[in-house]
Amino acid sequence: MSVSASGYLRIGASDVDAWMDFGTGVLGLMDANRADAAGARFLRMDDHPFRLMIEPAETDGLLATGLEFPSEDAWQRTCEAVTESGQNLVQGSAEEAKRRGVTAFATTSDPAGNTLELFWGRELDYTPLVSPQGVPGFVTTYRQTGDLGFGHLVLPAPDIDAAAAFYTDIIGMGLTDTLYPSGMEGVKIQFYHANNPRQHSLALFNGPHPLGVVHIMVEVETMDEVGHAMDRAKAAGSHFLATLGRHINDNMCSVYLLAPGGIAVEFGYDGMLIDWETHVATVSTEGDLWGHEYSFPGLND
Ligand SMILES: [Fe+2]
Repeated sequence: MSVSASGYLRIGASDVDAWMDFGTGVLGLMDANRADAAGARFLRMDDHPFRLMIEPAETDGLLATGLEFPSEDAWQRTCEAVTESGQNLVQGSAEEAKRRGVTAFATTSDPAGNTLELFWGRELDYTPLVSPQGVPGFVTTYRQTGDLGFGHLVLPAPDIDAAAAFYTDIIGMGLTDTLYPSGMEGVKIQFYHANNPRQHSLALFNGPHPLGVVHIMVEVETMDEVGHAMDRAKAAGSHFLATLGRHINDNMCSVYLLAPGGIAVEFGYDGMLIDWETHVATVSTEGDLWGHEYSFPGLND
């Protein structure tokens, strides 16, 4: 087990301002006010310099997932294992590392073609987090063990077995559980944890997705903060992709919102933290304890 967390996301946006309005106005994230020559904007959730990087792009979608490693040694060993596995790996320049607020990184992709940036040594930002919406904090750290990462994300992987082997054998994640949702013939979702107690930091879905990501999740500290976000989303006219509900596997009580450009954002509270020493991987056929009635624009609205 070497990978520490899902550290940051790079999101391509055809309308960066609209994404920033959603990120700050609805999700309550803080504009990091980092200068960027390419016009990217940055959203903070904690003492990391940013957790979401919103970059001008012709088409909307996920550009890359930043995976954090605990040391230069662990990072280097993983880079070597990636190369040995046959996946292409390109070292990032010092200038590109500075843009990401990391000591060093390398770009690769998983067997499904999802772009990953493997990094170590994040440069922290000690100026206090001030949410423009008064959100007291986001669940990204755990007192006993440190970083939980930004949250989680679900990546498309039509050949899920090849991708699964890459994340477990090369990247160093562990399988938490598997879901075969009832009523969705042939669909398989597998949830993976990094070396932190969050129930899953990354999941794989065995199908394609036009945006390169099925959903991303950010977590707050109280149920009231989910409620406040729902009120802000309603006032902003955001589309609700799912009603309030609670997932079975990670216990997340959450709502799903449609970000500008189409990425689904799960906003939740009460995610499960697990002791991996005693964890047993399980299989389920239901994703939700209650709620989460899905409503995709154009399909059933
Ligand atoms: Fe989720």
